[in-house]
Amino acid sequence: MTDIGIIGGAGYVGLVTGVGLATLGHKVSSMDLDQTRLKMLKNGKSAVYEDGLEPLLRQLIDINQISFTDDQSETVRNSDVLFIAVGTPSLADGAADLSSVIAVAERLRDEIRKYTVIVVKSTVPVGTIGIITDILSQKLRAGEDFDVVSNPEFLREGSGLVDFFAPSRIIVGSTSERASKVLREIYEPLLQGTTVVAVPWISPEQEIPYVETDPTSAQLTKYAANAYLATRISFINEIAGISEKVGGNIGDIVYGLGLDPRIGPGYLKPGIGFGGPCLDKDIRALVTVADENSYDPVMFNGVIRRNDLQMREVMNKISSAVGSSLYRKRIALLGLAFKEGTNDVRHSLSIRLYRALRDQGASVVGHDVLAVEEARELEPGLEASTELTYVLKGADVVVALNSEQAYEEIDWTIAGMPNRPPFVIDTRGILDLAALETAHIRFDILGSAR
Ligand code: UGA
Repeated sequence: MTDIGIIGGAGYVGLVTGVGLATLGHKVSSMDLDQTRLKMLKNGKSAVYEDGLEPLLRQLIDINQISFTDDQSETVRNSDVLFIAVGTPSLADGAADLSSVIAVAERLRDEIRKYTVIVVKSTVPVGTIGIITDILSQKLRAGEDFDVVSNPEFLREGSGLVDFFAPSRIIVGSTSERASKVLREIYEPLLQGTTVVAVPWISPEQEIPYVETDPTSAQLTKYAANAYLATRISFINEIAGISEKVGGNIGDIVYGLGLDPRIGPGYLKPGIGFGGPCLDKDIRALVTVADENSYDPVMFNGVIRRNDLQMREVMNKISSAVGSSLYRKRIALLGLAFKEGTNDVRHSLSIRLYRALRDQGASVVGHDVLAVEEARELEPGLEASTELTYVLKGADVVVALNSEQAYEEIDWTIAGMPNRPPFVIDTRGILDLAALETAHIRFDILGSAR
């Protein structure tokens, strides 16, 4: 059992990591400056939606396995290992904003009193470990008072706990044997499948690859993973665009493509593009790192460009569906979060689409299963509801933007206004086409000519 502190413990990555590590039997002190979130967390409530998180959190609080505080000095004092999980948003030029990481390092420099392993969980550019080491070295000795290691996270929002307890791999980048050993001890219970609270996500047969490398390679692995995922999405969106022009059916193409074991079926859904807090930020940061090192990342620039254009494709579809101007046209957007299964509306392309439609005078109504409150908070002018029938009623155009199961199950024979059915745009190829045809509703599937 290790005493672990999480700096940035109320954010998405920090919270899932803290809860995960506490479940493995470590004593976790989660530190954050966000008072509202801290108050909620102390009462076992989470500001981010994650399936199964709250009940687990409450159990861990009850057995004193995890605690929450805004006192960084206390967390540093009580911990042998500190996970840094603070945000690294994009700056205007695409580079990662390291100001929070630097501020944390400056405080650690003044607060660390015994050998402490600093684990960088936040996705930070190559070179950041060096910056943190330099800051700490102003007062402390590397290798004796501290070591800094990289342990990138691969959590997907909405599946964070599955990804923590059944990860596809654990990657640790370190130049210190001592620190590597500490990290291995921390993850040992997970590798053995033992926890202090029973969780449903660990299977007895699971074998988790544990990769030890240097910090630069660890960080670059994380960037490479997100850049590859982004590339897959831009790739399939480009195929969808071509398919539409030449009369193909993207659903069949994706199926046929995914049967090649070298390609695989996952992560090939076409749509409005990749949104969310990570893919766009990380691929832009990678481009900046390449530029700074005199390397021309032509391919990744193309991936970003395709993604930026993808929303325009959807916007064009809406405009041609209404035939005239968008002024006062009622547009129903199905899916407001950046993807299904989360309440996160930050960097959601649906919200960006809403803004573009609103700016042209359209009257937009949005549906989401989990993110209606968050969407209203971000965009008070957006009419948003969890009631699908309400959102569909009276719409001129309905746009399905994510793969929420409820959208697949819409009964279009009763959904639209009988005398004025909407035009339906399916960016995900998930809607029940037979039901749309029966209801005599005209539709357009992104990537398909029909
Ligand atoms: C992503 C990665 O999947 C995680 O491995 C990584 O840890 C995380 O970023 C991170 O760096 O923190 P996440 O942003 O939660 O996770 O969401 P994804 O499920 O990857 O989806 C990202 C975007 O791509 C969403 O807008 C989604 O709708 C879109 N997408 C995803 C598609 O358009 N098509 C697909 O086939 C899959």
